[in-house]
Amino acid sequence: MNKRILLAVCGGIAAYKSAELVRLLRKQNCEVRVVMTSSALKFVSALTFQALSGNPVATQLLNAEEENAMGHINLARWADLIIIAPATANIIAKFSHGLADDLLSTLYLAATCPVYIAPAMNQAMWNKTVTQENIQRLTTHGIKFIGPEQGSQACGETGFGRMTEAKDICLALLARSQQQNLHNINILISAGPTREPLDPVRYISNRSSGKMGYALAEAAEKYGANVTLISGPVILPIPSNIQCVNVETAAQMHHAVISRAANNDIYIGAAAVADYSPASLSTSKIKKQDDDSVIKLQKTKDILADVASLTKRPGFVVGFAAETNDLERYAKDKLVRKNVDMIAANWVGKQQGGFDSDENALQVYWPSGNKSLKMTNKKQLAEQLISLIVEKMNEKSTT
Ligand code: C5P
Repeated sequence: MNKRILLAVCGGIAAYKSAELVRLLRKQNCEVRVVMTSSALKFVSALTFQALSGNPVATQLLNAEEENAMGHINLARWADLIIIAPATANIIAKFSHGLADDLLSTLYLAATCPVYIAPAMNQAMWNKTVTQENIQRLTTHGIKFIGPEQGSQACGETGFGRMTEAKDICLALLARSQQQNLHNINILISAGPTREPLDPVRYISNRSSGKMGYALAEAAEKYGANVTLISGPVILPIPSNIQCVNVETAAQMHHAVISRAANNDIYIGAAAVADYSPASLSTSKIKKQDDDSVIKLQKTKDILADVASLTKRPGFVVGFAAETNDLERYAKDKLVRKNVDMIAANWVGKQQGGFDSDENALQVYWPSGNKSLKMTNKKQLAEQLISLIVEKMNEKSTT
């Protein structure tokens, strides 16, 4: 990996596992420096980490010997990557609120490199609303979480809160360092169907499961991006390290996307947005009548086209095209008509994969070329599409 890694150890019983993490990181040719909080020192001695890392361990903010010449700033500048393992609920809360009352919290504020957190705590502490809110907050600040895992805990309870094993933390850091090509890139993705209400109990919607959009969000996050997912109603779990905004109607999705578009480098419109919504919404349930009924529909706003025509628009805009016929013609037409950088087109219909399926194939078009991504599961397909987006975005910015 050849990186300068700053490992911060907080006070938790899992601190002993971090000694192994130092050894594994050094095996990957990383230079490791260790910071320990005062409570971490009650679990494992600084000498253990000094011996394993081959470097002195920093423990105090205001220590004339250790902290000579702004040591916390120097350590923050030195690091290519910071990993907090184990991270307690306390340090997560401090990071989340910008407190700087010890070496680690001050160093965090001074850091500009990627920061990873491997939490370890009692399951009730992990599940506490305020802890989860702090985690969501840090996720929106671009911090990546590794774990925690589920299982039996040192306190005798069972649940989420065990620190991820050292070898898996090392593997996660390794995987991410090889895929950091979207680091510091903000990606906005829309996913799933929309629901257009007719009355309090009925709506018009479509068969979109949201699987493709969610897989794209996960793949982008894996590549190091800060991901915001605007999701229509789906029954999928929210992927970790992703900020998810739930919406229902096309109008709500339009507002959620447009209000965030300017802060993003890439927009991927993977949602199956309704093209029409009922022209009027009945406040009470519409009663059955003796004769046939007609619903008047009005056009919804085109989110993709509106994002692409913003004065301050994301540098790369990608749309989807789900077609039952004339795929190439419609996709190429959308590329031009909606003024987007790429269209990922797929067949939909009875035997075609696409909507509601775990597999899909895509025919991707951009102004100067196209590529087929063969039928495979949506997770793999999403990674291939994200790679292609990165490639074409880099080409666009260098031409
Ligand atoms: O024009 P069509 O609906 O076939 O284009 C599909 C693409 O446009 C998808 O990326 C979809 O998310 C987007 N779209 C949109 N707003 C709409 C309709 C479609 O952003 N109202």
